Amino acid sequence: GAASKGDYRHFMLKEIHEQPAVIAAALEGRLGERSALVESFGPEAETLFRQVRQIHIVACGTSYHAGMVARYWLERYAGVPVQVEVASEYRYRQVVVPEGTLFVTLSQSGETADTLAALRFARERGYLASLAICNVPGSSLVRESDLTLMTQAGPEIGVASTKAFTTQLTALMLLTLALGKVKGLGEGVQSDLVSALRCLPDLVARVLKLDPAIERLSTAFAEKHHALFLGRGAHFPIALEGALKLKEISYIHAEAYPAGELKHGPLALVDSEMPVISVAPNDELLDKLKSNLQEVRARGGELFVFADEDVGLQEAEGIRVIHLPHVHEALAPILYTLPLQLLSYHVAVLKGTDVDQPRNLAKSVTVE
Ligand code: G6P
Repeated sequence: GAASKGDYRHFMLKEIHEQPAVIAAALEGRLGERSALVESFGPEAETLFRQVRQIHIVACGTSYHAGMVARYWLERYAGVPVQVEVASEYRYRQVVVPEGTLFVTLSQSGETADTLAALRFARERGYLASLAICNVPGSSLVRESDLTLMTQAGPEIGVASTKAFTTQLTALMLLTLALGKVKGLGEGVQSDLVSALRCLPDLVARVLKLDPAIERLSTAFAEKHHALFLGRGAHFPIALEGALKLKEISYIHAEAYPAGELKHGPLALVDSEMPVISVAPNDELLDKLKSNLQEVRARGGELFVFADEDVGLQEAEGIRVIHLPHVHEALAPILYTLPLQLLSYHVAVLKGTDVDQPRNLAKSVTVE
């Protein structure tokens, strides 16, 4: 059951391993043969989606990172401009809301004080409608939103969010496909994405089998005080999420940068004491990423790269490589999250921290 760890040492590890099943649950009943089922967002969703001219996404913590990934997807496949903001900032500024703006909140718990306050603030500002993507049925956020999409991850006990994040991403890809459909996204693109989504639970299961190799990498971090995560495009938010996981449970200071910004500051920090973790899926930014990695190597930085098996990145002095199976480019952010979750988990176990209940943090921050 949800309240027991079963054979796992921690809830976090159990929840990481539940991801193939819960991602399948998040997709259940929401995909047609070649496109998303728009009606799974509610009977009025299609009429409403036709009127959407832009989207504001608001969330906190890990949920905010999911929103950042969605911006890349929604702009690329649905052609809708997107803004993403943390709730604690959004709720205190004079937000300008253009006509036809959909307000989207993301929350595992549906009870995060700032996110809830942002929704209440937004309700007074003339949005087209509000959509909550949430994991807890009957939560405040769900009750107070016009439309809801449940992420179906089941109870998440570990304070560091894992399966809630990847199911949020899955739900956001469904939103992208549903909006894309009403906005005229090409049928071939839609059906490719639908097929890729159907394969996702199996791919996730394959990546989880890399666990022993990732556990071996973790020994390189236990004595370190800092780490730098790099990613480009939709993998910049995945780098942010990787850094957040490491901070939350291993208490190692970690920062994430879009790899192209390296030379504008963080390169000054790189030396043999600063491990650099990078996600290198096979996309159009790969060559640029490779040259960023060379800049790190040239300064003696130790590299840990999670790379597509097809990109031909090989291990070398100072470069450890873990290969991931090939995946549809759009879904790579979901797949590349997994090794970062496992890495932070194993580093935390090595350091002996309280993995499921890290110091100073709460599962759900219900007061401001
Ligand atoms: C807390 C948790 C995080 C979570 C954030 C937002 O900080 O420790 O894991 O991402 O709240 O929570 P929500 O329930 O709104 O997704």
